[in-house]
Amino acid sequence: MAPPRLVVLTGAGVSAESGLGTFRDKGGLWTQFDLADVATPDGFARNTDLVHQFYNARRANAAAAVPNAAHVALARLSMALGDDLLLVTQNVDDLHERAGSRDVVHMHGTLTGAVCGVCAHRWTAPAVMTPRAPCPACGRPTTRPDIVWFGEIPFFMDRIAEALQACDIFVAIGTSGTVYPAAGFVAEAAAAGAETLELNLEPSAVVSDFDASRFGPASVIVPAWVDEVLQGR
Ligand code: OAD
Repeated sequence: MAPPRLVVLTGAGVSAESGLGTFRDKGGLWTQFDLADVATPDGFARNTDLVHQFYNARRANAAAAVPNAAHVALARLSMALGDDLLLVTQNVDDLHERAGSRDVVHMHGTLTGAVCGVCAHRWTAPAVMTPRAPCPACGRPTTRPDIVWFGEIPFFMDRIAEALQACDIFVAIGTSGTVYPAAGFVAEAAAAGAETLELNLEPSAVVSDFDASRFGPASVIVPAWVDEVLQGR
C-alpha cells in the first residue's frame, strides 16, 4: 500500500470541547492526580485499585462525551482522503471513531481495551474494570487497561515512523508538545521534507519546529483547515 500523503497527530485539545479534560491546562488531569501514581507501571503495582478507579472514571466520561466539530471535520477528511491520510492520536477516547474516522492509530492505547499484564491477551474492556479480575485467556488476576503508561513504548511506532518519512504534510492538533516521542514527530517529518502545521489553542512547546501555526479552539480552526484542504483537491 502507498504511504499516506498527510499525517495528522491529535492530542487532548481536540477532545477538550467535548468536555474531556486535558492534562496540563489549568485544572487538567495532571494538576489533580500525580501521573507517577496513575500512569506508570510502578504506580499500578503500588495501588492497583486507585489506577482502575482513575481509568474507570475516564472510561465513563469518554462514553458520555460526544464528538465535537473538530472530530467531525477530521472524519470528513478521513472519508475524503482514505489511505492518503494517517490519523494518529495520543487520545485514549474513541471520539474520532464515533465521528466516523476509520483506521485511527491510537499510539497511547484506548480506554475501550483491556490487556493481560502477563500473557498480553487483549479483549474489550468492561465499563468498570475490577482490580484483580482474571484474564479470560490465562486466568491470572492481572487485567489492566490497554493504555500506554510512562516508561512504556507507544504502539504502532514503526507504522508512524514510515508515514512521517513519506508524507508531504504533517499537522499536529491540540497537543502541548511535551510528551515524546509524539512531540518529536514534527522534527522527523520536517527533516524528511514535509510541510508542517500546528493547530492549537496556544503555542505548544515545539511551536518553533513548525513551518506555520494557527491558534484558536479546535472546533473552529480544524473545520476551517479541513475545508481548505478539501477545496484544494
Ligand atoms: P496536554 O494536556 O499536554 O495539552 C493539551 C493541549 O491542547 C495544549 O496545547 C492546549 O493549549 C490545547 N488545547 C486545550 N483546549 C483546546 C481547544 N479547545 N482547542 C485546541 N487546543 C486546545 O495534552 P497532550 O498534549 O495530548 O499520555 O498530552 C500528551 C500526553 O500526555 C497524553 O497522551 C497523555 C499525557 O500524559 C499518557 O498518559 C501516556
